[in-house]
Amino acid sequence: MAELVVNGLTRSFGDVRAVDGIDFTVADGEFLTLLGPSGCGKSTTLAAVAGLDKPDGGRITLGSDVFFDAADGTFVPSERREIGLVFQSYALWPHLTVRQNLEFPLKLRNIKRKDRAQRIEEALGLVEMTAYADRYPHALSGGQQQRVALARTLVYRPGLLLLDEPLSNLDAKLRERARTWLRHLQSHVRVTTVYVTHDQAEALALSDRIAVMNGGKIAQLADPHTIYDRPADAFIADFIGSSNFLCGTVTEADHGTVKVDLDGAAALIAPSARPLTAGTRVRVSVRPEQIEIVEPGTAGPNVFPVTIEERTFLGAYNTLEVKAGENAFRVECRRVPDTDMIHVHIPETAGIVFPETASR
Ligand SMILES: Nc1ncnc2c1ncn2[C@@H]1O[C@H](COP(=O)(O)OP(=O)(O)OP(=O)(O)O)[C@@H](O)[C@H]1O
Ligand SMILES: [Mg+2]
Repeated sequence: MAELVVNGLTRSFGDVRAVDGIDFTVADGEFLTLLGPSGCGKSTTLAAVAGLDKPDGGRITLGSDVFFDAADGTFVPSERREIGLVFQSYALWPHLTVRQNLEFPLKLRNIKRKDRAQRIEEALGLVEMTAYADRYPHALSGGQQQRVALARTLVYRPGLLLLDEPLSNLDAKLRERARTWLRHLQSHVRVTTVYVTHDQAEALALSDRIAVMNGGKIAQLADPHTIYDRPADAFIADFIGSSNFLCGTVTEADHGTVKVDLDGAAALIAPSARPLTAGTRVRVSVRPEQIEIVEPGTAGPNVFPVTIEERTFLGAYNTLEVKAGENAFRVECRRVPDTDMIHVHIPETAGIVFPETASR
């Protein structure tokens, strides 16, 4: 019913193309995250959907409602879009109690007193804040204020929920809890949601699909597993999770598999979705957690010796900075080896090959 469709959206500020012709669709009830580094155009995109900013070009529709269409000059103001907005600064009205904060948007919409009371109860129940209804915002923790801010948008049952870094004011622990809770809430309410964050862990944990943005464009739009396991380019591989990049030259290419001579080290076999020819300079991305430490003397493809240069204890696991020829990379392990010379195995499916000319 309430499917959001964004087509050919553009927005420039002077010479800066903040949003450079992006398309995406958010299905009814879907949770889509716009993820990307600072300045990539996430908030500008969200502001266009919210009607807080007028784009230069494109079309935005929610179900059968046209919010914006550059072709015929349609621009529906924000207050007539019936959307729920929560931004980083989720200012509650300080002189109103929690209940009154929720009642205000309902009064604005001329909802009857009896219905108001019921909706407020319902929304506070959803965010588990019923017991705090008569408190003032100053007497709530940051996380509790965050929940009330969400309840205040849910109370009038928007067709679309837009959230711009709504958890960024919380500490790490609270953020994690809020993340679980938000996911639970969304699966319960099933409101079409666009979420903006530059935190990749948050995006992976929360989203049905993620649109990774870079320089005003969508670099990849897919489900979290695909984004993590099959990043479309080196920028995404680097931005999502931590990736090692091993440099080398293709020596053989055959039916989606390439053999890469790593600079100053052994050969590596990896799958390649792109047709690559021998002699191509490439960067092979490998996640640290996918590299295995093997017993010395182990032989086989993709097994080679490395030297440990640094060891870091991180509580649940350790990281090793290792070097093989010209390539330095990171390995994760539970137990730190007691020698500096070890052998590692990079499973054939763990490497993703990007031509060196690709972005970054
Ligand atoms: N009102 C404005 N005037 C001029 N430039 C702007 C304006 N709003 C955004 N920009 C520019 O457009 C680009 C995209 O900004 P945007 O706020 O969309 O980034 P973002 O992805 O939300 O980043 P962050 O993660 O830092 O919030 C940036 O280069 C920014 O400086
Ligand atoms: Mg922003």
